[in-house]
Amino acid sequence: MKDAAPETAPETFYLKDYTPFGFEVQSVELTFRLAPKATRVLSRIHFAPKPGAANPEFFLHGEQLTLISAAVDGAPVTPTLTEGGLTCDVPDRPFVWEAEVEIDPQGNTALEGLYMSNGMYCTQCEAEGFRKITYYPDRPDVMSTFRVRIEGDEPVKLSNGNPTASGAGWAEWHDPWPKPAYLFALVAGDLVNHPDSFTTMSGKEVELNIWVRPGDEGKCAFGMEALKKSMKWDEDVYGREYDLDIFNIVAVDDFNMGAMENKGLNIFNSSCVLASPETSTDANFERIEAIIAHEYFHNWTGNRITCRDWFQLCLKEGLTVFRDAQFTADMRSAPVKRISDVIDLRARQFPEDGGPLAHPVRPEQFQEINNFYTATIYEKGAEVIGMLKRLVGDEDYAKAVTLYFDRHDGQACTIEDWLKVFEDATGRDLSQFKRWYSQAGTPHLKVSEDYTDGTYTLTFEQSTPPTPGQPDKDPRVIPIAVGLLGPNGDEVCATRVLEMTEAKQSFTFDGLAAKPVPSVLREFSAPVILERDTSNAERAFLLAHDTDPFNRWEAGNALAREARVAMVLEGAAPDADYLDALQKLLRDDSQDPAFRALVLSPPSQSDIAQTLFERGHAPDPQKIFDAAETFAQTLAQQLADSLPRLYADTTVSGAYSPDAISCGKRDLNGRILSLLTRLDGGQQAARQYEDADNMTQQYAALACLLKAEKGDAQSQAFFDQWKGDRLVMDKWFALQIASAAPETAASVARDLTQHDLFTLKNPNRFRAVMGALAGHHAGFHHASGAGYRLLAENLIALDKLNPQTTARMCAAFQTWKRYDADRQALIRTELERIAGTEGLSRDTTEMVTRILDA
Ligand code: PHE
Ligand code: ZN
Repeated sequence: MKDAAPETAPETFYLKDYTPFGFEVQSVELTFRLAPKATRVLSRIHFAPKPGAANPEFFLHGEQLTLISAAVDGAPVTPTLTEGGLTCDVPDRPFVWEAEVEIDPQGNTALEGLYMSNGMYCTQCEAEGFRKITYYPDRPDVMSTFRVRIEGDEPVKLSNGNPTASGAGWAEWHDPWPKPAYLFALVAGDLVNHPDSFTTMSGKEVELNIWVRPGDEGKCAFGMEALKKSMKWDEDVYGREYDLDIFNIVAVDDFNMGAMENKGLNIFNSSCVLASPETSTDANFERIEAIIAHEYFHNWTGNRITCRDWFQLCLKEGLTVFRDAQFTADMRSAPVKRISDVIDLRARQFPEDGGPLAHPVRPEQFQEINNFYTATIYEKGAEVIGMLKRLVGDEDYAKAVTLYFDRHDGQACTIEDWLKVFEDATGRDLSQFKRWYSQAGTPHLKVSEDYTDGTYTLTFEQSTPPTPGQPDKDPRVIPIAVGLLGPNGDEVCATRVLEMTEAKQSFTFDGLAAKPVPSVLREFSAPVILERDTSNAERAFLLAHDTDPFNRWEAGNALAREARVAMVLEGAAPDADYLDALQKLLRDDSQDPAFRALVLSPPSQSDIAQTLFERGHAPDPQKIFDAAETFAQTLAQQLADSLPRLYADTTVSGAYSPDAISCGKRDLNGRILSLLTRLDGGQQAARQYEDADNMTQQYAALACLLKAEKGDAQSQAFFDQWKGDRLVMDKWFALQIASAAPETAASVARDLTQHDLFTLKNPNRFRAVMGALAGHHAGFHHASGAGYRLLAENLIALDKLNPQTTARMCAAFQTWKRYDADRQALIRTELERIAGTEGLSRDTTEMVTRILDA
C-alpha cells in the first residue's frame, strides 16, 4: 500500500508571518550567454543592509540552478546552499554580489523561468520563476532597476525597458523603473515584428511592436489596434500615460496562462494575441482585445504600483480585471459585457466559492502561490471593486484612485493601502466592507416583500455558508441596486442603491399607488445568490418590461432555469410561457442581436447541476443533458416556420469585421443555425460551411454538423485545411469532444490523446482536449467513470512535465460533492490515485489534498 500523503508535507506560508527583506537592492545587472542546454547567467547586484535591520540574514532564492561561482565585493565566497536557495556571510555595509549560474532552458518543460518554445528563448517569472534564472530575493516587495545584456546569435533579443546598445551577437537593455523580479522578461529568437507607434498625452512618441514567428505577421493588426485603443483609454479615463520609449509584445506558443505584463515586454500566449478573420472566431477577437488591454493596464496597476507579497495578488489582478471590463464596456456594449461577465462568474467563481477550493479574495495562507491565480482572486476581486465604486459613487471613485496613484507610485502595496485611499478620499469607514476581502463564500440574499397602504417594504436577509477554515461569517456590506415597476410595466422608482449592513434589514418605498414589481440587484450590483419566491409570470413581466438590461436577461435566465429544473425533477414538458417569451424576443428586431443571443443561450448544464444541488438533489448529468436536448428540440419545432427567415435576417454578409454589432449578429445567427440544424438535418449548416470565409461561420457550421452527426466530411476537410495552424487545431480537438454524445465523450477524448498532433508539452493542446472533456458535463460525469479516469491519467502524466497546468486542471474535480455516492466514490478513487503518485509536484499535491479534504 502506498501512502497517499507526501513524504514531507509541503511548507505553508502565512500572511501574518510577513517580514520585510533586510536589504535594499540598489541595482541589478544581468548577462545571459544563451545556449539551449547550458545557458550561463551572470549577475552583479548592489545590496545595502536596511537601516535599523540588525544583522539581517542574507538569503537568496534559487531553484534548479548550478552555481558556478560567487563573489562579494570581488572576492570569491562559498555560500551555503539550502533547499530553495542560499545563504552567505556578507558585510554590514553596502556590497556587490556577483554570481554565475548555469541553467537548462531546453529541459524546462514547466515553462517557468527561462525556457524554449519552438526554438525561441522566453521567460515567465510570475510568481516565483525568477529564482530559476539566478539567485535573487525573489519577492515582489524587493524592487530594483535592471540592466540586461543578452549574448547569442538569435537575430532578435529583447528585455525590459529601453534598448541602450547592440552589436553582432549581443544586445543591451535598461529598465529605469524599479520593479520586482517577477516582472523581468527576456526573449530571443528568429522573430518578425509588426511595428507601429503611439503619441502619448504629453506628446512623447512610443515605438510599438508585436513580435511573432515568421508567417504570423498577418495576424498582428488587430492586436496592435487594441493596444493603441488601450493606451488612449487609460489616458482618457484614468489619466495614466505610458512611461518608456518602447512597448513590445511577443507571441509564444507554449505558455501556461493567457499573458504576462512584464515591464515594457508583455509576453502572450499566441492564442491571446494572434488574430485573423480566417483563423479566429468573434469570441477570440473579443478576448484578445480584452487581454491586450488587461496586460497594458497592468503597467500602472501592477507594475508602477505592485504587491507587497503574493497574498495581495487581488490588489493588482482584481483592479486590472475591473479596468479591462470598463474598457470593454466602453469599446463594445456595456450590458452585453456585464451579462457575459456574470455568466462567467457563475460558471467559474461560484463553484469555487461554494466548494473545497473556496478561499478569500485575499487569502491568508498558501502552499503554492501558482494555485491562487483563481476566479476568486481575479473575478471576485473585480466584483469587490465594482461594489466599492457603486457605494462611493463615480466621482469619489475617481478621487480615491487618483490618490492611490499619487500616494503609492513606485511602492509595493497591500489591500489596507488600497482601502485607506478610499477612506481618506471619502471619509467612509470601510472596516466592515473589508470582509469582502477576508471572508470566503458567496452570500445568499433572501428577499421578502410587503405592501401596505402605499408603502412597499423590501426585507433582505444575508447568510454565507461555511467554507474551509471559516465556519462562521459576519454580515457584509452589500450594495443592492433596486428599481420598481408599476403593474403596467412603467418604472415607478428609478434605480436606487440600498446599502445593506445588517444580517437582516428592511428598506421602504413610500407613495406607491399600487403594489410594484421589484427589480432587485440591477446590473448584478453584488456577487451574491439571490433567493426570492416569485412566479414565472412575474419573471416574464420583467423580461418584457425591466429598464435594466441585466435584470431583463436575468429574468429570462431564471425562467430557463426553472423550466429545466421542472423537466429534470418532475419530467415536466418545456414551459409553454417561457417558450412563448423566447419566441417573441427572437422575432423582435428592435432588440440588440447580442442581447437576444444571450437570452437564447441556456444556463449551462453544470449551472443546472449546481441549482439542483443547492435545492437538495443529487444532480443526474444525463437527465440534465436530455432536458437540454428536449428543450432545444421543442423550441426549434415551435419556431419551425420562422427559422429560415430569422437565419437569413441575421446573416452578416460583406467583408468580415469583428465589431460588436457584427459579432452580436453572428452570435445570434449561429444559435439560430443550431436550431435549424435540428430540423433540416444539416442542409443549411453544410451550405454555410461551404460558403464561410471566416472562422466564426466555418466553426459554427462545423459545430452544428458534428452535433447532428452529419459532419464527418467537413471535419476531415477542416483538419486538412488547418493541420498546419496550431491554434485552429486546438479548436478542432476541442470540438470533437464538445459535440460527442455523453456516452462517447471520454472515448473520443482518449482517442485524441493518441493522435499524432496531441502533446503534453503544449498547454493549449492539453487544455483543448482535457478542458473540453471536463467542460462536457454529461460526458465527464458519465456513470461509467471513464471521463474521471482519463483525466486523472493525463494529469498524472502531465505533472512530471508541467505542475502548474496540471494543478489548475485538477479544479475539474472541485464540484464532486454535488453528485451521488457512486460518482463520488469514482472520483475519490481517481483523486487518491493522483495523490498517491510518487514524486507528485507540490502544486498538484496541494490542489488534490484540498479537494479531497472537502
Ligand atoms: N499576471 C498575469 C495576468 O493576469 C497572469 C499570469 C500569472 C501569467 C502567472 C503567467 C503566470 O495578466
Ligand atoms: Zn492580470
